[in-house]
Amino acid sequence: MVATIIDGKAFAATVRGKVAGHVARLKADHGIIPGLAVVLVGEDPASQVYVRSKGKMTVEVGMNSYEHKLEADTSEADLLALIDQLNTDPEVHGILVQLPLPGHLNEALVINAIDPAKDVDGFHISNVGLLATGQKAMVPCTPLGCLMMLRDHLGSLSGLNAVVIGRSNIVGKPMAQLLLGDSCTVTIAHSRTKDILAVSRRADIVVAAVGRPQMVTGDWIKPGATVIDVGINRIDAPEKGEGKTRLVGDCDFDSCAEVAGAITPVPGGVGPMTIACLLANTVTACSRAHG
Ligand code: GUN
Repeated sequence: MVATIIDGKAFAATVRGKVAGHVARLKADHGIIPGLAVVLVGEDPASQVYVRSKGKMTVEVGMNSYEHKLEADTSEADLLALIDQLNTDPEVHGILVQLPLPGHLNEALVINAIDPAKDVDGFHISNVGLLATGQKAMVPCTPLGCLMMLRDHLGSLSGLNAVVIGRSNIVGKPMAQLLLGDSCTVTIAHSRTKDILAVSRRADIVVAAVGRPQMVTGDWIKPGATVIDVGINRIDAPEKGEGKTRLVGDCDFDSCAEVAGAITPVPGGVGPMTIACLLANTVTACSRAHG
């Protein structure tokens, strides 16, 4: 293996430490405690794990965590009424509605009902527009965490060829905007891209966010490229015993690490940075609210 491993877990701990310092100053100087409300509709097991982890880290950095768990068959009107209440609650500075929502709820409608100033996910159309036009926005947490690791590892990204694999609203599209903002030459590749292997191989930076376990293999990677693996996929691991599973990314770690200059592991790469950036966005929202 030649690649440097980018330690997202350690980086995230540093970011959380800075957030904790900021929270402590807000408390000491102004008597303000930032508050994050997380809304979970239904019982998707992966979402439950994320929400628990977000709540725990929120409290660890000294902020208030408000969890709202709603039944899977909650009506859109009831969900919108809760969002309205959180929008006007002065103790709540950040609101996150965990996605995906159950099928009967209109995701776009729900997200756009959040006060853009409290939209710590950066999914509201106002924040999407602000990011796209280079204005001060709430930036989606996963792409922001990826950008921070890239800047930390590479310094300036100016002029580099970046390929984002995946075109989701949560990761692919905002990631492309952020890389463009740092003067990369950006390509978004997806399931319909012709000769995706050749496209990927041109890249100095590959961000894989497709949700397909180990899809990107070493032959997709230009020697020395920096690989950011956003995927978190659970696969069977018979080698660990019957019925056991393990987490893998969208990249085949071993073959990519043979070729890449640097790579993020799964777990311990992008995942912890996402939560750290959520906490950072919440403290930012709180500071702006009391600006
Ligand atoms: N589901 C998967 N990732 C995310 C995220 O970053 N924010 C929200 N709200 N839901 C998600």
